[in-house]
Amino acid sequence: MRSGNGVQGKRILLIVGGGIAAYKSLELTRRLKERGASVRAILTKGGAEFVTPLSFSVLTEERAFTDLFDLQDEAEIGHIRLSREADLIVVAPATADLLAKMAHGLASDLATAVLLATDKRVLLAPAMNVRMWEHPATQRNLATLRADGVHFVGPEEGEMACGEFGLGRMAEPAAILQAITGLLGGRDTPSATVRPLKAQGAPQTGASLSGRHVLITSGPTQEPIDPVRYIANRSSGKQGHALARAAKALGANVTLVSGPVALPDPDGVRVIKVDTAHEMLAAVLSALPADLAICAAAVADWRASDEAPQKLKKPPEGSETTLKLTLNPDILATISRAGPARPRLVIGFAAETESLIENAKSKLKRKGADWIVANDVWPGTGAMGGDRTQVHLVTERGVEDWPPMSKDEMAERLLARAAEALQALRPAAE
Ligand code: C5P
Repeated sequence: MRSGNGVQGKRILLIVGGGIAAYKSLELTRRLKERGASVRAILTKGGAEFVTPLSFSVLTEERAFTDLFDLQDEAEIGHIRLSREADLIVVAPATADLLAKMAHGLASDLATAVLLATDKRVLLAPAMNVRMWEHPATQRNLATLRADGVHFVGPEEGEMACGEFGLGRMAEPAAILQAITGLLGGRDTPSATVRPLKAQGAPQTGASLSGRHVLITSGPTQEPIDPVRYIANRSSGKQGHALARAAKALGANVTLVSGPVALPDPDGVRVIKVDTAHEMLAAVLSALPADLAICAAAVADWRASDEAPQKLKKPPEGSETTLKLTLNPDILATISRAGPARPRLVIGFAAETESLIENAKSKLKRKGADWIVANDVWPGTGAMGGDRTQVHLVTERGVEDWPPMSKDEMAERLLARAAEALQALRPAAE
């Protein structure tokens, strides 16, 4: 994980709305200060019900501001100056009420007046009950704010303070910090412009893959050593299968080429089951042409140079056995260089335990893909075989840090982005 040093010397104006997640903003402040940022806090009336201005004063080593009509504030500093003296405004938690006020340009207190007066970038970390989040009014406000160029991080799915489960939990301080770092580093990041997609059904971006053929590889491959033994890896196929479901939900005609997994076939998807990398490559090539190819399979890099026709006998105690390995063909690189048969958009994955972004960038070039989804699979992340993931989208235009989310949600977002990109390249034939 990269450090948050991109915030060193930067001035963050933190607006704290009225939600139980306000306590997380204290942690965010602590982390920002630790990394050398200066932080000024404004608490809305509701925000000050959950955390005290004093706590923020102590952590920020500055006075915490609370109300537009505090004449002393206005005389001393004023809301225009507050916004002018910031490199970035972060609203965390951004309540449904704050989103609505911002979307409609209200300036009824200090926080909203600052937000209306600013020409600085604004990052919102929404936090609210799932029903409030899903309400058409909130979704309309989000669309307006997105069109206004406001950036978002989260919300995340999970258990809420009210006992319900769903989208609406504020992003964790680490994820907000990453989004801040991304924005201050000049990256216009959808970690920061995360689109709020519903858990099921078509995303609300209006993106469609209708009329498109989407080819996805998923799962591990198994490379036989002899009739009973093989080389493989820990891939579960969860991400690749989630991608196939998400593509199908957007109306695509989907071919899923899958290695051995313990998952049901996604509904309405053509599934080609393979064992080895060679079989996967053959299946992929036979499935072309495609508009979009996503290589999510964890293809074994090597196969046994000589597959034994019979079960190998155990050597005598104490002796060593040498297994000769041959490199497998690279399916992603092959598709990326498939000439006229090349899909218009080719996306690969980079699962790494170290130097994630650097490796993903070099993979983008080496393999000739258009996008690489980089994910940290260090055992502590639980990404390998788990249901959640945290990825970075690496393209030639830069790196977008996405917050942690479920593999299903990641799949929906990625497919919505791919659909938009394909639409921009060439509209689908009706
Ligand atoms: O080189 P590495 O295995 O880390 O690259 C990962 C990406 O390349 C993934 O998208 C994976 O599906 C793809 N890949 C492939 N064929 C291989 C090895 C990797 O398609 N033999």
